[in-house]
Amino acid sequence: MEQMTKYLIIIASLLTVKPTESKNDTKPKIDRRYYQMPIFINVCDIVDRRSKVHCYCDSNKLKLATRADCWIFSGGLTEDDAIWPSFSSQSEIEHLMFNVRTDDALTFIPAKAIVRLDKLKYLSIQFGTIKRIPPYAFTNSSTVRQIVLKSNKITNLDKHSFSQLMMLSNLSLDDNLISELKRDVFFNLPNLHVLHLSNNNLSLLHEGCFKHLNNLIELRLDVNYISVVTKEMLEGLENLSRLNLRNNKLTMIGNLAFSELWGLKELMLDNNAIEYISERAFGGLIQLRKLTLSGNKLTSFYEDILEDIRSLIVLDLRDNLLTTISYETIRPVVENDKSLSSVVYLDGNPLSCNCRLSWIYTLRNETKDSTLRHALEKITCLSDTKDSDRSLNDQIEEPVDNSNLLADDNYEYYDKNSEDTVEKVNNENSKAIKLTDLPLEELPCPKEIMQSIEESYGHPIQNEIRLKAFSNGVRILPNLIIIVLMVIIL
Ligand SMILES: *[C@@H]1O[C@H](CO)[C@@H](O)[C@H](O)[C@H]1NC(C)=O
Ligand SMILES: *[C@@H]1O[C@H](CO)[C@@H](O)[C@H](O)[C@H]1NC(C)=O
Ligand SMILES: *[C@@H]1O[C@H](CO)[C@@H](O)[C@H](O)[C@H]1NC(C)=O
Ligand SMILES: *[C@@H]1O[C@H](CO)[C@@H](O)[C@H](O)[C@H]1NC(C)=O
Ligand SMILES: *[C@@H]1O[C@H](CO)[C@@H](O)[C@H](O)[C@H]1NC(C)=O
Repeated sequence: MEQMTKYLIIIASLLTVKPTESKNDTKPKIDRRYYQMPIFINVCDIVDRRSKVHCYCDSNKLKLATRADCWIFSGGLTEDDAIWPSFSSQSEIEHLMFNVRTDDALTFIPAKAIVRLDKLKYLSIQFGTIKRIPPYAFTNSSTVRQIVLKSNKITNLDKHSFSQLMMLSNLSLDDNLISELKRDVFFNLPNLHVLHLSNNNLSLLHEGCFKHLNNLIELRLDVNYISVVTKEMLEGLENLSRLNLRNNKLTMIGNLAFSELWGLKELMLDNNAIEYISERAFGGLIQLRKLTLSGNKLTSFYEDILEDIRSLIVLDLRDNLLTTISYETIRPVVENDKSLSSVVYLDGNPLSCNCRLSWIYTLRNETKDSTLRHALEKITCLSDTKDSDRSLNDQIEEPVDNSNLLADDNYEYYDKNSEDTVEKVNNENSKAIKLTDLPLEELPCPKEIMQSIEESYGHPIQNEIRLKAFSNGVRILPNLIIIVLMVIIL
């Protein structure tokens, strides 16, 4: 290697004077000579002002630079350009960035440069117009740890586009136009931990497209057009801990959709159009700690949905279309692990103000956790027009504290460093009343509700007792009532 360099330097010095141009000026001949004996270029010290590439490095001396920021100013660079092999002049580069300033100035992955960089750890190409990533585009680099290809025009990922990269741990393909993920695009990447595909055009995830990513920890698929998730699509992601599917087009979550993800801790499904969640949708998510479903179209949330998730400590159901929610539904969250404080967000739903929500008062008074208390205090409800309670109408005029809905510092309880902020659709509702501003005894309790509550649990006043009973894990009371009722019916 050393000798090679010396040899190149000698050639370079011999060639400082441009080769005498032959009389016969036909293009192919000149090109051939150019490539046979390249003019030696130190990529960190490009003096030719006409050069399409300029790199700013931490050292201009030959083979001393470890960081290079390269700017590409004008179009027409080809994969055969002499600049690419010249990267051997700086073979110590670990950190290489290409910033593309003109459209169509860089339309491919410069493999001929990458292959010469034996120490490369970080590669970034931004604002280029790369459309396609061919197989083995990164020349099987055994050193590269992070690849960032944000804001290009990538539409196609081939089979083995990202393959044989033993050290690759982070890959970002954000802000491209990828519409489909085929199988075996990601192949033999034993260290890939983070994969970002946010803000693409993804609507089709082929079954098994992540099959080889057994060590992936974080997957971001937010801001795409995904309308279905199935178990088969997520096959292989057995070590995934965070899955972000915010801002997609999901309308329902089917049974066991996430059951391949045994290790999942955070599932973010905000801002989709989810109307329906199957009873066993979250089956298998035994380690899930945070589930966010805000900004969807849920009108009901069944009691059994959370039964499968025993470790949940954050549940976000803000800005849905829920008209009521029972204590039974959220019980697995608030009672799951006393040593961890858990929180349930319910504001921004058109809950109706009635005694079905009385458990919220009890929970708010009982909880020692201020995050949960604040979250409960933000819950608003809509007074039922049919039932015109005077004292309720007085309260309606009160301004609703909507500013706090957005500025919720406690939201990222589980992961405070999470950079994602969910855009909230603010359910402006002039009739919304802060539930806990209403005295509990003024909460309307129409006969039918009273009856249905009585049937299932006994008198609403007993809710507090019931809540205490449940928190001790005793569920005998309602069972007894059901048995008694059945006996009566029979
Ligand atoms: C120049 O090249 C062309 C085609 O390659 C050839 O026909 C011609 O004879 C050459 N002329 C001279 C002066 O070498
Ligand atoms: C990368 O590995 C693949 C499969 O082993 C091989 O076909 C390909 O030629 C390799 N590419 C380079 C540039 O070494
Ligand atoms: C990879 O991504 C994770 C999470 O985004 C980040 O914490 C980590 O620093 C990244 N690694 C590298 C090498 O940049
Ligand atoms: C995005 O995907 C849709 C199909 O889902 C396709 O019709 C459209 O052409 C894609 N847009 C781009 C820019 O690739
Ligand atoms: C999951 O991660 C753990 C620890 O990071 C590792 O020991 C294990 O091998 C991984 N599982 C798989 C299937 O790769």
